[in-house]
Amino acid sequence: MLILGLNMFHADSSAAIIQDGKILFAVAEERLNRHKHYGGFPALAVKACLDAAGAKLSDIEHVAVGQDSDANLAKKVQYALANPTKILNFIKMRHRKEPMRDVRSLLAHALEVDPVRLKFQEHHVEHHLAHIASAYYCSPWEKAAGFSYDGSGDFVSTMMARCEGNNIQILDRVFLPHSLGSFYTMICDFIGYRKYGDEGKVMGLAPYGKDTFVDEIRKITPLRDGAFRLNMSYFKPLGSNQGMQVLPDGTVRLARHFSDKMGKVFGPSREPNSEITQRDMDLAYAMQLRFEEVFFHLANELHKHVPEENLAMAGGCALNSVANGKLFCRTPFRRTWIQPAAGDEGLAIGAALHTYHAVLERPREHQMNHAYLGPEFSESQIESALNSAGIKYQRLAREPLLDAVSDQMVKGDVVGWFQGRMEWGPRALGNRSIVTHPGLPNMKDVLNARIKHREWFRPFAPAILAEAQHEYFEHDHPSPYMLHVYKIRPEKRKSLCAVNHLDDTGRLQTVTREENPLYYDLIQTFGRKTGIPVILNTSFNENEPIVCTPQEAIDCFRRTKMDALAIGPFFALKERDIS
Ligand SMILES: [Fe+2]
Repeated sequence: MLILGLNMFHADSSAAIIQDGKILFAVAEERLNRHKHYGGFPALAVKACLDAAGAKLSDIEHVAVGQDSDANLAKKVQYALANPTKILNFIKMRHRKEPMRDVRSLLAHALEVDPVRLKFQEHHVEHHLAHIASAYYCSPWEKAAGFSYDGSGDFVSTMMARCEGNNIQILDRVFLPHSLGSFYTMICDFIGYRKYGDEGKVMGLAPYGKDTFVDEIRKITPLRDGAFRLNMSYFKPLGSNQGMQVLPDGTVRLARHFSDKMGKVFGPSREPNSEITQRDMDLAYAMQLRFEEVFFHLANELHKHVPEENLAMAGGCALNSVANGKLFCRTPFRRTWIQPAAGDEGLAIGAALHTYHAVLERPREHQMNHAYLGPEFSESQIESALNSAGIKYQRLAREPLLDAVSDQMVKGDVVGWFQGRMEWGPRALGNRSIVTHPGLPNMKDVLNARIKHREWFRPFAPAILAEAQHEYFEHDHPSPYMLHVYKIRPEKRKSLCAVNHLDDTGRLQTVTREENPLYYDLIQTFGRKTGIPVILNTSFNENEPIVCTPQEAIDCFRRTKMDALAIGPFFALKERDIS
């Protein structure tokens, strides 16, 4: 049975295809159309899913969408009635969204198929239920607490659930306008980070701040009745879309979030690209600290109702790897399974799996054991891309390739590493990565000056052999999808100085041979040469979506000051003839 999952007309639109409950393929549209956080219809992603499954649209029996605009309708109406000026907007918005709900026509049009030939049944799964499903059904567990939180989805910002067997029982929701995601976005907006998705950047700024504003910031998110509220006097009215709009070209635009009161309390807002002051860093510090306090409050509350040690989690806020790393100290949960695509692209998988297990009541036979669910390219496709680009390269066997790449890294050179299937989710996990030495003091500046051009305060991440984690980090809960930040042990900070953040932490990826044998062996080979079983891993891109195709990788290699490229079995050095 083939089920197509979709996230559409929402940020990070995506498609996934599952067969008898097994995820065959999943990809965000941005990787294919190169439009960051694209929020239109995921036509290319759907085509890629069908190609990967060797199926036609008419073979699909069920289509599941991670959005249900009829969900929580009473709450939406109540919200509109509380402010009569919004009623007309509310009606207009529902009317405007009508064509976006006609999934059959949208798919038929995108794939140029007669809609009459499409026999699939259509399912709409509430946004946060799809998020929780994307974690729980992928986990190995028969019982868990389920938690999802983000800016907003189907008029909800937070959902808590009891997960058992095939069922996800919703226990509680936090409705708009109260949203921990919107709280984070509002402060980011105030300190000059105004684009959709900037929140992850600002997390790295927090350790540079002091506790100047913690008490003031706490006033914005008072805790109440086991949940939290937003003090709306600090916010501009955001409307039922919580300040997020998808433009006709698929661009996701954020409305101004903060009210004039923010300026009165904290001084003028920072203009993007202007100097970052200590005030901005202190606000970032207080924002992250309060986010964590509220998150742990909610997680502890959830644990009272579902006293399990397992927490299945997703939603954009679940990408807050600093909070995730502290969860085990601040709550009774002992294990997390966080969907690697915790943001909204993950809804495609969640909606499909929810339909299979909860709606169709089919058994749970598959887990998600790795995130390599995207497109792959054959050796001949890669070779032809190299030849078209006029790149000089060698074809190397496995061991010589690992040797050549690790030799480069030992020297402090920066290598583009393109192998196998592209990662699902926002992190590069060793198939579309740029890799180098984690222990050279100037490496962060070198990477930024030559390739990444990122904000100075953002750390780079370590990828470590799973069995070495305990030796280097203070926690040993695995982090296969780079979703936990842990303290680096004091005696190891020097050898990891390029990935050791200001607060002596690292956002690690733990790598096992089962998940990614070639990447594991690369780290191990580097470890044999340096005594450090860790490499610096950053995404293969330069201010663009992570590269997907060989052509995009080669373009990035050529236009940046990358030293070498390992693409499939082929190895190329920059500006050096090795033939
Ligand atoms: Fe979401």
